[in-house]
Amino acid sequence: MTEIATAAKALQDGSLVAFPTETVYGLGADATNASAVARIFDVKGRPKNHPLIVHVFDVSQINDWAREIPNYAFDLANAFWPGPMTLVLRRTDLAKDFITGSQDTVGLRIPSHPVARELLRTFSELGGKGVAAPSANLFGRVSPTSAPDVLAELGERLVSGDLILDGGSAEVGVESTIIDCTRSAPAVLRPGAITKGMIQEVTGLDLLDEQTEIRVSGSLESHYAPRAKVLLDQEPLAGDGLVALSSIPTPSGVIRIASPDNSEQYARMLYGALREADRLGLERVVAVLPEGEDIAVAVRDRLKRSGA
Ligand code: TXA
Ligand code: MG
Repeated sequence: MTEIATAAKALQDGSLVAFPTETVYGLGADATNASAVARIFDVKGRPKNHPLIVHVFDVSQINDWAREIPNYAFDLANAFWPGPMTLVLRRTDLAKDFITGSQDTVGLRIPSHPVARELLRTFSELGGKGVAAPSANLFGRVSPTSAPDVLAELGERLVSGDLILDGGSAEVGVESTIIDCTRSAPAVLRPGAITKGMIQEVTGLDLLDEQTEIRVSGSLESHYAPRAKVLLDQEPLAGDGLVALSSIPTPSGVIRIASPDNSEQYARMLYGALREADRLGLERVVAVLPEGEDIAVAVRDRLKRSGA
């Protein structure tokens, strides 16, 4: 059996499989298996009422999980799937409380990473309905963007039968854009590579504001946090780490940990840089926020939370 076939079988048997997506690595389980999903929460140390995203291979599987899907959600699906986007839709009976945190909605995503696609395709051929997967980090910490990051983060908590698939470094680097599709127009719950402008253009609709009763754990104030203290837009002192666009020089005595040329690179390098700060034992990291309305919005969002 190929490694991916073994992994699909492991999911079917109720084991956990960490796998690459284009955003970040996920910690996957069969989304219909209550005890397998319970292990995700144990391994991550995540509160049980936080909903999980269900990953599927093909749009035809969306109706298994969601009902009353508005037309604009299909427009988004056609435009951006497979890709770094999660749609929150009214759930069917297949989406149990242990997936949705007892809400009446379910988050769905079709990732584009070839390893994720092959895993989801093989799993669905075995009769699997979908793979529940949060980011493969301990609760509140920085999401992993490589297989070694997953191993360092969760290795000790995985057991025999669990697997980590290696698909290289995540290309996007920050988690998917989450879009609430349960009202008359879309609302962005978590910014990502699919921007508000892109959503407006595809749907022709003005976006609604985020509804506060929807629980998005990634919207807790303190999240995505390394051990080092993250300070935003401050003058770095000697011994501090610095994350900033390459156009910004490094003051003497400051430890440069990332020097991206643009916002896309910033997103790709961000979590690796925060992990590097911890490996170096830095106490403080200064991040200079990128400007702009593209993926820079997501970078600013994560940096603000990592420092909260
Ligand atoms: O890019 C991503 O989305 C990655 C990869 C692995 O797919 N996954 C990810 O999962 O970031 P997680 O669990 O770390 O973050 C998903 C967020 C959580 O904050 C959760 O609260 C929210 O999605 N979410 C899931 N289902 C939801 C729902 N039905 N309503 C509102 N928020 C939901
Ligand atoms: Mg997460």
